[in-house]
Amino acid sequence: MHNNQIVEVSPTGIHRNLQKSVAKYFFPYEFIESNWRLWTFIIIIALGSWALIAYPVNPMNGYIDPFYSPTVLIVPIPGLFRLTCYAYRKDYHRHLFHHPLACENTEREDSATRRYTGEKNAVFQFENLHRYMLYAGILLLPFFYYDFYVSLTYANSLRIGSLVILANALTLTAWTLSCHAFRHLIGGNIDCYSCARAGGARNSVWRIQSWWNSHHEALAWISLLTIFFTDLYLRGLAAGLPIDHILFNF
Ligand code: FES
Repeated sequence: MHNNQIVEVSPTGIHRNLQKSVAKYFFPYEFIESNWRLWTFIIIIALGSWALIAYPVNPMNGYIDPFYSPTVLIVPIPGLFRLTCYAYRKDYHRHLFHHPLACENTEREDSATRRYTGEKNAVFQFENLHRYMLYAGILLLPFFYYDFYVSLTYANSLRIGSLVILANALTLTAWTLSCHAFRHLIGGNIDCYSCARAGGARNSVWRIQSWWNSHHEALAWISLLTIFFTDLYLRGLAAGLPIDHILFNF
């Protein structure tokens, strides 16, 4: 570098570096690179399981809490489905295990020495059960729509609570059907579409799902929050809050 060369450092860059250095000395790395999807999931699973047992929400006014639909199966099956989901795997592999390294982690001090060891460990191999969790997850989806139907027929009306239940069913469906394993199932496993039976149609479906799949991480986030919100809404109703209104009668 020449002595008279001016090195431009943007104020934003300086600010970010300063933030990193300060944070590095005062907080564990996980809090600096906090991953809110992962922590929200852990908190919701922990709180949801506790509330499920300690403060159950009984069906009321035709509404069924998603944590109880269909019964307590909702916690282990979708819980494992979500835990082995690629979006959440990315979260805890990077943020808890620091494994494998990703472009996001190049600034870590051990980035040069840590080697990628593949998914040989028994814990990581368990994640391969994800596709079976997908099948179970798909089987559970109709229950959420049934709950919506029950909420409509209870008072022959469309109420705000029914819309909350429907929104939850739709986001869960969008997340489930945008799964990478589902993408593989419907067409990703085909090497030659023109050779496969109904190859053209399958290719079209696969292309549509691929677009959907590109939003999978966001859907993993949104569907988690809608379960939480639906549960909260119904708990609010159970506590007597005036938050439910009839939108129209049939
Ligand atoms: Fe996320 Fe399958 S990869 S649900």
